[in-house]
Amino acid sequence: MENLLSIEHLSKSFTLHNLEKHISAAEDVSLYLKGGEFVGITGKSGSGKSTVLKCIYRTYLPNSGHIWYQSERFGRIDLASASEQVIIELRKHEIGYVSQFLNVMPRTTARELVHNAIVEMGHDQEYAEQETVKMLEHFELDRSLWDSYPATFSGGEKLRLNIARAMVKRPRLLLLDEPTASLDQGSKLKVKQLIEQLMAQGTTMLGIFHDLEFMEDLCNREYRIQQGRFYLAEKQKTNILLN
Ligand SMILES: Nc1ncnc2c1ncn2[C@@H]1O[C@H](COP(=O)(O)OP(=O)(O)OP(=O)(O)O)[C@@H](O)[C@H]1O
Ligand SMILES: [Mg+2]
Repeated sequence: MENLLSIEHLSKSFTLHNLEKHISAAEDVSLYLKGGEFVGITGKSGSGKSTVLKCIYRTYLPNSGHIWYQSERFGRIDLASASEQVIIELRKHEIGYVSQFLNVMPRTTARELVHNAIVEMGHDQEYAEQETVKMLEHFELDRSLWDSYPATFSGGEKLRLNIARAMVKRPRLLLLDEPTASLDQGSKLKVKQLIEQLMAQGTTMLGIFHDLEFMEDLCNREYRIQQGRFYLAEKQKTNILLN
């Protein structure tokens, strides 16, 4: 089967002009994901994990390398050089991203955030309302918060909302940047349950995890990153592919 995502020799660096400093955030990264897989990334803080995810989602434009993605709408395309318009379409319909830190839209309530994500996919209002309620209930976001602005939410509440918003779209490819980092055990399990559900529905996932042990039974493969370079960890699971 052809890879859903195939990163080839990706590099990203930053120049801090005020300090006249050059930072290599990720160097010569190569990795692949087959359809339906759940692949984990681990590594020290500052090693370039988030940078790689941001390059796939095109929050960052890579300096060199290719990010081949097998799109439903556009066929095989290189996310490193695709047009902004294509990227916008992919973000709406195919690629989801749970960021490590939630950037909330001002004056948008929790309910609206999730609701809008569903409507963006082309679903009608009624369906969007039902799914929004299901998702907010699943993550046990206190009902008193549903119509409030997330700016004042706690870290864990923001994170749960962020995950709900990305997962409700059931994207083809979901990028997860430490989705369980600041959650208690109960909330972590809720995230895990949803990851399992999404896997069963065929969503392919690439996730950064601090403690991959928690996800180990779900994870097909693990990449370890050291000083901006990726290594395939020895353990490989191939027996739990669901489709
Ligand atoms: N926008 C940016 N401008 C300048 N430097 C950046 C930028 N983004 C990332 N970096 C640098 O690139 C390196 C890798 O950062 P990255 O966020 O990818 O690390 P990480 O592995 O996700 O770390 P953590 O586990 O702490 O989240 C760091 O040294 C960071 O300071
Ligand atoms: Mg990070």
